[in-house]
Amino acid sequence: MTTMESLIGLVNRIQRACTVLGDYGGSDSSFSLWEALPSVAVVGGQSSGKSSVLESIVGRDFLPRGSGIVTRRPLVLQLHKTDEGTQEYAEFLHLPKRRFTDFAMVRKEIQDETDRITGKSKQISPVPIHLSIYSPNVVNLTLIDLPGLTKVAVEGQPESIVEDIENMVRSYVEKPNSIILAISPANQDIATSDAIKLAREVDPTGERTFGVLTKLDLMDKGTNALDVIEGRSYRLQRPWVGVVNRSQADINKNTDMVLARRKEREYFATSADYGHLASRMGSEYLAKLLSKHLESVIRARIPSITSMINKSIDELESEMDHLGRPIAVDAGAQLYTILELCRAFDRIFKEHLDGGRPGGDR
Ligand code: GDP
Ligand code: NA
Ligand code: MG
Repeated sequence: MTTMESLIGLVNRIQRACTVLGDYGGSDSSFSLWEALPSVAVVGGQSSGKSSVLESIVGRDFLPRGSGIVTRRPLVLQLHKTDEGTQEYAEFLHLPKRRFTDFAMVRKEIQDETDRITGKSKQISPVPIHLSIYSPNVVNLTLIDLPGLTKVAVEGQPESIVEDIENMVRSYVEKPNSIILAISPANQDIATSDAIKLAREVDPTGERTFGVLTKLDLMDKGTNALDVIEGRSYRLQRPWVGVVNRSQADINKNTDMVLARRKEREYFATSADYGHLASRMGSEYLAKLLSKHLESVIRARIPSITSMINKSIDELESEMDHLGRPIAVDAGAQLYTILELCRAFDRIFKEHLDGGRPGGDR
């Protein structure tokens, strides 16, 4: 395991521990370690293809689907690459002792856990669900799936839901350490994209926004999305990536992910419009691009993360002192866990810096 892989793993573990203490991407706690840590937030309008992109990146079907607002709590999805030949499994933070090998059960648990907090009332909640997937077929990456931006409330939902969703999504993406994966469908005018509208607002220079264009296969015959993909329609500092996910008909036919990825590769390889860009298109390329970017962001932020962590160690130590003994077992144990993780983090960062290659290529 390289140093950087263990760093992404540590970032993941600290984020999990923070969430238990009420410190997460959407929270506005004054002391937030989470905010110092980078993560990738997936944003887009309803049905823009967010779930499809996430499932392609993971190479598995596991997300709830349906019409309306399916994602009603943020899902923090942590992907851990394991050794070739090892069994793929998933684990939830709220069910630490249970290993899921059946991904249909993962989908069900996401639904059940959403309902546990929000009721079946179609309400939303900013408290994230944490899911880790261990697989030889993923890249190391943390992604946050957020509710889809919408323009109208559906039956049974309060009018305020439109604004509530936008505010929740904004609270995640406005943090400077948030990397924005902005999903827009190619069969709609990019000027009307909810994802780009929000990204432009919170990241006007386009420095931390990755534009993803879905549904290239659904564009009108004789048209293409080169103006967007080549950055002429809306300029970002990061490259645009086009993808072709499974269509609703593919999903109904249970087309599996392996086949879907192959079809996507073929689509780009044989495309008259995008053939020249084939090596920089598709979900597999997107996953690698994001993982590399996340690594480099962590690397670049090492000094600010360590100073935040040292501050945290001080605060946590004094908080533990304040609590005195006896303290509530759970809170004490969690503080202690974070403290230990911070110390480990600090140690590994220092080793990494002592390795003499900060910011260098691996
Ligand atoms: P979400 O609401 O943003 O999570 O969108 P979904 O991922 O659930 O996708 C909405 C619908 O669009 C589903 O029926 C998908 O099958 C379909 N879809 C998503 N991406 C593509 C694509 O690239 N091509 C085609 N043909 N259909 C897509
Ligand atoms: Na949706
Ligand atoms: Mg979805």
